[in-house]
Amino acid sequence: MSVQTPPVVTVRPTRWVRGQLRCPGDKSISHRYAILAAIADGTSWINGYAPGNDCAATLDCLKKLGATVNRHNTELNGTHKVNSLDVVEIVGCGLRGLKRSNVILDAHNSGTTLRLLTGVLAAHSFETTLTGDSSLQRRPMKRLVDPLERMGAKVSLINNKLPLTIMGTDLRGIDYVPLVPSAQVKTAILLAGLQARGPTIVSESIPTRDHTERALSAFGITIERNGKGILIRGGQRLHATSQRVPGDFSSAAFWSVAAAALPGSDIELVDVGLNPTRIALLDVLRRVGARVDISVDHETAGEPTGRLRIRHHQICPINITAAEVPALIDELPVLAALATHGGDIRVTGAEELRTKESDRIGMLVSGLRNLGADASELSDGFHVKGTARPVGGVADAAGDHRLAMTFAIVALGASNPCVIKGADSVAVSYPDFFETLETLCETM
Ligand code: S3P
Repeated sequence: MSVQTPPVVTVRPTRWVRGQLRCPGDKSISHRYAILAAIADGTSWINGYAPGNDCAATLDCLKKLGATVNRHNTELNGTHKVNSLDVVEIVGCGLRGLKRSNVILDAHNSGTTLRLLTGVLAAHSFETTLTGDSSLQRRPMKRLVDPLERMGAKVSLINNKLPLTIMGTDLRGIDYVPLVPSAQVKTAILLAGLQARGPTIVSESIPTRDHTERALSAFGITIERNGKGILIRGGQRLHATSQRVPGDFSSAAFWSVAAAALPGSDIELVDVGLNPTRIALLDVLRRVGARVDISVDHETAGEPTGRLRIRHHQICPINITAAEVPALIDELPVLAALATHGGDIRVTGAEELRTKESDRIGMLVSGLRNLGADASELSDGFHVKGTARPVGGVADAAGDHRLAMTFAIVALGASNPCVIKGADSVAVSYPDFFETLETLCETM
């Protein structure tokens, strides 16, 4: 069982990070398998379900919508520093077979829960209200509501923000070009399209992670691709399946960056998801000068999975621009941490970061500066220069899991201990993060 992380954690500098580990199950994939299982025919099993609060929120909402969900914890006897794996059993309700919830659905901090479920509920002919915590309540929802309304659903928001109330209906397919690259919005439209009359096409100007397309195929759905368009024909039924979730690349990113940052480091990640739409960070680490070895050993439900080995070599300056942003969206904060170890990273075209669990430009830069790093805010990104070693201090993660973990990676190279406020937010995606960190560090 993982220990609950306290709200304030102090991280000490380390000489290097070394070790072999498996990260918790992929959050994006876990949400998708759970939701698809709940609208499939039959009983599905999901092995290695993500342990954090976000994916628990999805299961909780699905139960309230009539799916039977049982969660089992399996102890592992391996040595990979994850000693248990969650297995989730879901008895599906069939296509358009969910039941009206008696209570408001609470997605807590999870945008993926809220947006994907809204897409599913758009075709259920009852009213549902969904909300979330204060962070989710400030995040943009219009990008989700507009296409669903075009398909026929009736959706209301208050000043374009949560709570969201949706009255589902018989939907019609659409041909849609999202205004902002977003896998969550793409997925919501594809899930609505699966339950609509006729075909639905989503054409992305810049591709986003394609877990939904791969997961739909694993549940027996035919997806057609035509250039940039992804086409789904409504009315296909999903077949229950048993799947294993690979380790989360976005969690592995913290250890990868720590290893790239600190001379003498050597980290091996096993059983990690290596979907090409998720691993753009590895190209960036190579550009920075790290040694990166990748080996795909198998595919599970169309998701390539394998090993990663990351070692420090050098940290060259880099620029990230808009075209690269969607594929790196969750890894941009930790790349800022890499620059504090002696690099120089300038990110532009990433205004989307301001709409995440926190304003990930403003809160990132102020936390980095509080730790003594040379960081500046741009309207659409940030610039971090590693000219001087951070002296340490107090950084506030603003309740944002990825910022808490990012500040921890900065702290490893600081000259004094760093205090991270809001460290308990790691429970969203990586409850064991700080315990794992201790096992990889060589404290000075
Ligand atoms: C996610 C997509 C991304 C990402 C989020 C998870 C998903 O959000 O930032 O952490 O599982 O589809 P957007 O699609 O809104 O950019």
